[in-house]
Amino acid sequence: MQSPRREALDLSTENKNGNMVVTPWEVSGEIDYNKLIERFGTQPLTQELKERIAKKAGFMHVQLRRDVFFSHRDLDWWLNQYDAGRPVGLYTGRGPSGHVHLGHLLPWFFCKYLQEAFDAHLYFQMTDDEKFLLRDDLTLDQTIGYTYDNALDVIACGVKPGLTHIFSDTEHIQHIYKLGLQVSKRITFSTVKAVFGFTDSDNIGLTWYPALQAMTCFLQSYREGRNVACLIPAAIDQDNYWRMTRDIAEKMGYYKPTQIHNKFLPPLTQGGKMSASQPDAAIFTTDTPELAAKKVMGAFTGGRETVKLQNELGGRPEICNIYAYYFYLFEEDDAKLAEIEKQCRSGALVCGDCKARLAKMVKVFLVDFQEKREKAKARLDDYLLK
Ligand code: TYM
Repeated sequence: MQSPRREALDLSTENKNGNMVVTPWEVSGEIDYNKLIERFGTQPLTQELKERIAKKAGFMHVQLRRDVFFSHRDLDWWLNQYDAGRPVGLYTGRGPSGHVHLGHLLPWFFCKYLQEAFDAHLYFQMTDDEKFLLRDDLTLDQTIGYTYDNALDVIACGVKPGLTHIFSDTEHIQHIYKLGLQVSKRITFSTVKAVFGFTDSDNIGLTWYPALQAMTCFLQSYREGRNVACLIPAAIDQDNYWRMTRDIAEKMGYYKPTQIHNKFLPPLTQGGKMSASQPDAAIFTTDTPELAAKKVMGAFTGGRETVKLQNELGGRPEICNIYAYYFYLFEEDDAKLAEIEKQCRSGALVCGDCKARLAKMVKVFLVDFQEKREKAKARLDDYLLK
């Protein structure tokens, strides 16, 4: 789909030892998060910063405790703004190309936590234009349809009406186009070529689109007529956009957007991230609990070839996706997680039993989440940008 673009982007993310690729369009290979911090010029998330958030929230979110959120840009400044009584806000988004999977939920659950802690507005962008422009197999009606479908997932994560403003790039264009134009006038074609690797054969919609993802960094400020410090919780694959936006922010009279980056929930197969483009390797929030459980039972693990070898040598949680799902989402109790790890390493716990335990938890999660999604249908309008 995008070989010339990939070539350009690979340069900025190439890993000497392997084949790591981390771009807004592709995440693959074994991901070295320390290398990403170095390459993207971000800062590691310190214990002190984690504690500052936890103090405000009243507890430390499991994703902070376990370094799922691992990197940031100017989070300290954003927190200082808040402490000084100045306005702060949150921004995140979704490219609605299909149903939502468990990986997408990581930054959204975290947004809910931050929204409650800081009583902050959350601007949530649905980029139905981006996915239409990028994918030959999707019509505009389909991406717009997924906007409303995916919005139910956002609401099911527990964000607050009144403080949450979900918008579609296409259907809410009247609220965003003027600001998008202001942004696009300050970004040259050579900049987007360098940052995103666009080539002459890319459609011109794609080369304009980054202005809209950038624009939302300033949307709250623009609407409120005052400067609001914007924090973006998202996985690190979106970082190209923020590097570009930070370069133009001050020229436009806005603060540079700040970021807090999460790691990727792995797929059910080996390497990379859970991605909607590999449906068999992802668990979608719309999967029936039975289908999700079946997918879990077929997942890649860090187990040995035979039970006998597993008993002798023990498993390898460090490369196991089942362990990763406990770690990222499903086992919040640190003592229970440590017990799983211990039993796995000792060989006492075999993969079949470990998967069956997780499958049960995934089923319980989905039943509850799908109930919340269903209830969200009647409340959708309360969350849309007005
Ligand atoms: P999209 O739809 O690819 O991803 C939505 C959000 O989910 C994160 N993400 C993941 N996090 C953990 N594990 C995974 N396996 C995983 N896969 C995806 C992404 O980083 C993202 O936060 N262009 C964007 C839409 C967008 C946006 C934004 C995203 C517009 N404005 C601001 C974040 C922040 C996109 O296509 O996201």
